[in-house]
Amino acid sequence: MNLRRRILTVLSTLPVASVLPHVLQAQTTTLKATPQDALGPFYPPQWAGEIDADLVVFGSGAYADGTPLTITGVIRSTDGKALANARVEIWQTDATGKYRHPDDDGEGPAKRGFQGFGRALTDGEGRYRFRTIKPVLYSGRPPHVHFRVVAGGRKELVTQMYFAGDNKERGGNFGFSKERDRLTVAPTAAKDGQRDGLAATFDLVLAAA
Ligand SMILES: [Fe+2]
Repeated sequence: MNLRRRILTVLSTLPVASVLPHVLQAQTTTLKATPQDALGPFYPPQWAGEIDADLVVFGSGAYADGTPLTITGVIRSTDGKALANARVEIWQTDATGKYRHPDDDGEGPAKRGFQGFGRALTDGEGRYRFRTIKPVLYSGRPPHVHFRVVAGGRKELVTQMYFAGDNKERGGNFGFSKERDRLTVAPTAAKDGQRDGLAATFDLVLAAA
């Protein structure tokens, strides 16, 4: 018996029922959608001008105060596919606990060299990257980075990223996601040029529209 016929013979003895479920499973990977969280009052009112994925070098060119933080991640759909060209937006406090927003400190953070919010498009493998600082607590809220992700054919995701060891509200939970552990990252030490900083991975999954 030649090799080809031998392989065919072996295959024909395998029970179809034992092979088929695995094939089907591989085609229907389902991921849980990332929980939505409150938009909050400080979503940027306009995105004109120098708004890129590097929040720490802005205007004067000096580094913004604070602990450098690089956030990277992959945006996927619930069927496991990486989403290219998804728009990822973040906004957060500067090192003094202020948002760049007319209802908080206006252009204060920008005058202190911090862009305040940023945006990025995912690459062909669904990846994004931001260079920012670790936000600080304000008004009893633990440090967090707001996210909004928009991708064709998917439900828009508005959520927040929290930090392990310091992810609890100080005064009640006013409509924030109850699934906070799923929104919490544990950053590792990472150099940002000459500065000591942190790196965090925050992968997000978008539900069907
Ligand atoms: Fe906030």
